[in-house]
Amino acid sequence: MKNVFGTVILCLFLTGCSGSLPDTSASSPSGNLVLSFFLSDGQMGYFLKSDGQTMIDSSSLSIVLRDQPLLGSNMKIQNVEKRAVDEVWEMPWGEQRVVHNQYQSLKIWLTETAEQNRKIALAFKIYDDGIGFRYEIPEQNGVTEWIIEEENTEFQLVDDPMTWWIPGDWDSYEHLYNTTRFSAIDAVSKRNHPNLASTYIPFNAVNTPITMKSDKGYYLSFHEANLTDYAGMTLLIDNEKLKMTSGLVGSDRTGYKAKVRLPFNTPWRTIQVAKTAGELIESNLIVNLNEPSVIEDISWFKPMKYLGVWWEMHLGKSTWDMESSQNINKDPEAETERRFHGATTENVKAYIDFASKNNIGGVLVEGWNTGWGRWIGFEDREGVFDFVTPYADYDIEEIVKYSQERGVEIIMHHETSAAPRTYDQQKDTAYALMQSLGINSVKTGYVGKVIPKGEYHHGQWMVNHYHGVLETAAKYEVAINAHEPIKGTGKRRTYPNAIAREGLRGQEFNAWSIEKGNPPEHLTIIPFTRMLAGPIDFTPGIFNIKMTPYRDGTGQQINTTLAHQLALYVVVYSPIQMAADLYEHYEGQPAFQFIQDVGVDWEQSRVLAGEIGKYLVIARQERETLNWFIGGVTNEQGKRVSIALNFLEEGTTYDGVIYKDGESAHWNDNPTNIDIETTPFKKGEAVEIEMAPGGGFAISLLKK
Ligand code: NOJ
Ligand code: CA
Repeated sequence: MKNVFGTVILCLFLTGCSGSLPDTSASSPSGNLVLSFFLSDGQMGYFLKSDGQTMIDSSSLSIVLRDQPLLGSNMKIQNVEKRAVDEVWEMPWGEQRVVHNQYQSLKIWLTETAEQNRKIALAFKIYDDGIGFRYEIPEQNGVTEWIIEEENTEFQLVDDPMTWWIPGDWDSYEHLYNTTRFSAIDAVSKRNHPNLASTYIPFNAVNTPITMKSDKGYYLSFHEANLTDYAGMTLLIDNEKLKMTSGLVGSDRTGYKAKVRLPFNTPWRTIQVAKTAGELIESNLIVNLNEPSVIEDISWFKPMKYLGVWWEMHLGKSTWDMESSQNINKDPEAETERRFHGATTENVKAYIDFASKNNIGGVLVEGWNTGWGRWIGFEDREGVFDFVTPYADYDIEEIVKYSQERGVEIIMHHETSAAPRTYDQQKDTAYALMQSLGINSVKTGYVGKVIPKGEYHHGQWMVNHYHGVLETAAKYEVAINAHEPIKGTGKRRTYPNAIAREGLRGQEFNAWSIEKGNPPEHLTIIPFTRMLAGPIDFTPGIFNIKMTPYRDGTGQQINTTLAHQLALYVVVYSPIQMAADLYEHYEGQPAFQFIQDVGVDWEQSRVLAGEIGKYLVIARQERETLNWFIGGVTNEQGKRVSIALNFLEEGTTYDGVIYKDGESAHWNDNPTNIDIETTPFKKGEAVEIEMAPGGGFAISLLKK
């Protein structure tokens, strides 16, 4: 073992030091992973092996506290508890219905040998697909509050793996993924991001999940679970030592990372370990490390597909605010730039009509409320947005009545402009209004720098804000789809009204990004990285790939084929999936049938094939109908795949519809070239599909 603790571990285990040492190692249920906790001269540490090979070498654990010595370096073991747990639970909505939660728990109680005599426990849960561990701090010496300056949790790698990473940004997750060796991670040079002017990246660090592939073929991903009342964790990169150390998101207002009331448990620090890339996606480690649901009845939220008065604003066809559109339209000189307010009663009714005729459950309406005249680019945004007052040209009662008559749900929108105090003041009233109207879900947004200045989107103060929103919303039977959110850490298990979130570089970048949008490889990386954190509101389904006429002459487009856009309804998981394009772009399009048919709530999901950054094929079975849907995406290389349909039900014939790239399809040269074939399928049969460069495919298998 090439580490600083080696000698002392030997002392501990070979000479026995005290004679009757407790066993501080534990194996996962099937024995593939073995986690060992150790003390080296009183310093806490751990290492992790998979099938006898070291995955994480000796890594130290400690916490830096304000006005106190380092905690973790003068410890002795008090007690060791071990327990095997094997249970199942059901997701109310999800990638699968039944989840197996089986692990070995190992808890080490420690006391300080130094005069402070502080106590701490290290709790580990060892699963077959990875581990989680956290610090558990009991109330002690009459002290009830600690100020955490930093948490020094180390992850010592054993080689220099290929790594998929985004910069350790305290405000945003909307970066493109980089693919480099670990030793070449350089978040500092990615600091000045033209599209993300308001973000903050103080160190050479990464945001999580960060995913790696070692030359020995192992896949590792690092993240956290149950981030509650604490700061989000970035990982500081030591390129030379091949080591990561937790770096908590800070606050310039308080000067510390977190203030905690004892007793306190930190979030779980997680390491997923897999032998195929697909196993990372199939892993339930992150949700399993969260507590069971505290919402007794979530039946009021139904997974759905939705349209939105949304893409038209991103294209510049219409505006969010009513004021500027009126000014433009009054000025005859501005005739060529005529733009209209999007959220008018008339326009929204047209979306509702289209949704109700085409099996789309919801319509999102952005720009319906007053305040849009002073959001982006304004310093003082406190008290500007009003979450109960519609613009004069939007009759909210009439819209709700109209939508209910047609079996369509309205999805509320609350852009907070990152002024959470204003939102906190209004959220009860806003959710009460929603409840009185029978609206059960809201898309929230936090665009811009957080007010008050000095707080960051992923610091403890904002973590608590996002949490408070979930709790309050639950009381009014409101589900949250947060944009510019805190990262997902599996809390959807405890709060199943946390239905989806952005927290990545979404489709909208294709409409206006200076770097010409997301590259074709984007969605072959996202499922192995960001998606491990939970459901994504990516907003797929743009059919007008070249965005004609809105982007004519700019070179901007969606950098995928049309078949790739269809595949995203299966490849990217979310209980709400947007059909993001203008509804008129779906009219008369045979490929739209797939969006009408595809499920949004799954009995089970299987990754059939995939390599990070290259390609991915996922099959999911719809809960209600037991129909299957398959989606595949590839990067700019193109890829041929063979899919064995051995997961289908024995003795059943399925009506199969294959939506695949046409012969000359290419993400840039011919993106809308699509072939649609209808053919019956049975268990055991196979399909061969050629994905074009930047392409993909979608298959629906509907039970006869
Ligand atoms: C950013 C969100 O990601 C986007 O979807 C939304 O349209 C705008 N904010 C306005 O709220
Ligand atoms: Ca966004």
